[in-house]
Amino acid sequence: MKKLIIANWKMNPASGAEALRLATSVWKRAKKFRKVDLVFAPPFVFLPILKKFKLSAQDVFWENKGAYTGEISVKELKSLGVHYAIIGHSERRALGETNEVVNKKLKAALGAGLRAVLCVGEPEKKREIAFPPIVREELRSAISGIKKALFKNLVIAYEPIWAIGGGRADSPKDVYEMSLLIRRELLRMLGKKISARIPVLYGGSVDDKNAEIFVKEASLDGLLVGGASLNPKKFVRIVEKVALL
Ligand code: PGA
Repeated sequence: MKKLIIANWKMNPASGAEALRLATSVWKRAKKFRKVDLVFAPPFVFLPILKKFKLSAQDVFWENKGAYTGEISVKELKSLGVHYAIIGHSERRALGETNEVVNKKLKAALGAGLRAVLCVGEPEKKREIAFPPIVREELRSAISGIKKALFKNLVIAYEPIWAIGGGRADSPKDVYEMSLLIRRELLRMLGKKISARIPVLYGGSVDDKNAEIFVKEASLDGLLVGGASLNPKKFVRIVEKVALL
């Protein structure tokens, strides 16, 4: 399986011209690394400008039309050729998104054939509890009531909240353990055939120094990169190191 690396730009950069410059400068140097599937997740407004790249939305709404001021539907995203949608990012959950809302968004995205990147993660590092109940609950509730066959398009991003944005990544050993627990939970819920196909990524202060170790030692299928994806040099180094593993 190709490794998946998603650049989560969050609310950056400030203009379309900069967005195009950033994606182009990364792609020029990274496209030769064919062992990596490279996806840009820019703010919604830049998606049309970046149509020639593989794209992810950072969020999605669950209804397809109607009076929902400010929301963007799966159908609208698909009309732009967007392939992926990040769902349940902790920064959205911090703004009030509940597990129930995440479930509706996941259902809508998977139902429409988008690849959905479901983010799960605990707020504090407390590793005496092997599998944080909050992560288990995020997984279970997100997945509930969705047709099993649709999970072929599911991706899980394990992002411990305390590791995001602060330059303090989790340890590869702990991420490895968490990825095993997540995979075991998926196996229990979805069965072997489906769960085996679901990629598990890590996100949280990934940079060009630790990316390789994460993918190798934590045996992951890829990375969700925030801050470091805004620096083309650093980000290309991440892609290169993962591609050359
Ligand atoms: P970070 O963000 O790489 O800046 O920690 C990751 C994320 O929030 O997806």
